[in-house]
Amino acid sequence: MRKLAAGNWKMNGTSAELAEVSALIAAQAKPGCEMLLCPPATLLARMADIAAGSALMVGGQDCHAKTAGAHTGDISADMLKDAGATHVILGHSERRADHGETDIAVRAKATAALAAGLTAIVCVGETEAQRDAGRTLDVIGTQLAGSLPAQMTGAADSLVIAYEPVWAIGTGRTPTLDEVAEVHAFIRTTLTTRFGEVAKAMRLLYGGSVKASNAADIFAVPHVNGALVGGASLKASDFGPIVAALAAS
Ligand code: PGA
Repeated sequence: MRKLAAGNWKMNGTSAELAEVSALIAAQAKPGCEMLLCPPATLLARMADIAAGSALMVGGQDCHAKTAGAHTGDISADMLKDAGATHVILGHSERRADHGETDIAVRAKATAALAAGLTAIVCVGETEAQRDAGRTLDVIGTQLAGSLPAQMTGAADSLVIAYEPVWAIGTGRTPTLDEVAEVHAFIRTTLTTRFGEVAKAMRLLYGGSVKASNAADIFAVPHVNGALVGGASLKASDFGPIVAALAAS
């Protein structure tokens, strides 16, 4: 299975930051794993132009469930693809919190993304209160049950799950390696029960305060097949070493 280092720029970046993309490509000409950046929609097409012919892929941060229509401010999976995207992040906890996205909405988006030929990166993760209450696996199980497409039609690598504990995002705090291992093993088992053999080849990413200094340890955890990186994906000098750590794992 090819591992995936994915960067999520969130609502960060204007034209000036595109220089980071060239720097990343120069530093990681042959990364040894898949390398993806998901910029804000305003930069997507330009980033895709810069990345053309390189090992870097680009993706969106959300899409609408419909192909086109009267949905002011929204972007469809087909539009992302047309702009050069190969992937889309869906159901990120910030979208679930800021925009009230439910598991059902995320499932509809993931189904649309797969139909458009994009790889869907579906995010799940517990809040701190849920972890403290011992409900982590219940919460993840419910999110997986509700957010994933009903059927897996495409290749195994077109559906990626990102486990991102909400309390670890942007905080500098991470779960213990045992906690990461427990959740990733649970996700693998849940996917295999649901989709069968194909699930063994699906990539499971860890996300939440991944940085160069903790990346190698996290990547050594069983069933961690890559990372979804926020803050540390904004600069080539931060993201490059994470990509290198993944390639070496
Ligand atoms: P972080 O964000 O790496 O800044 O914690 C991760 C994410 O939200 O995908």
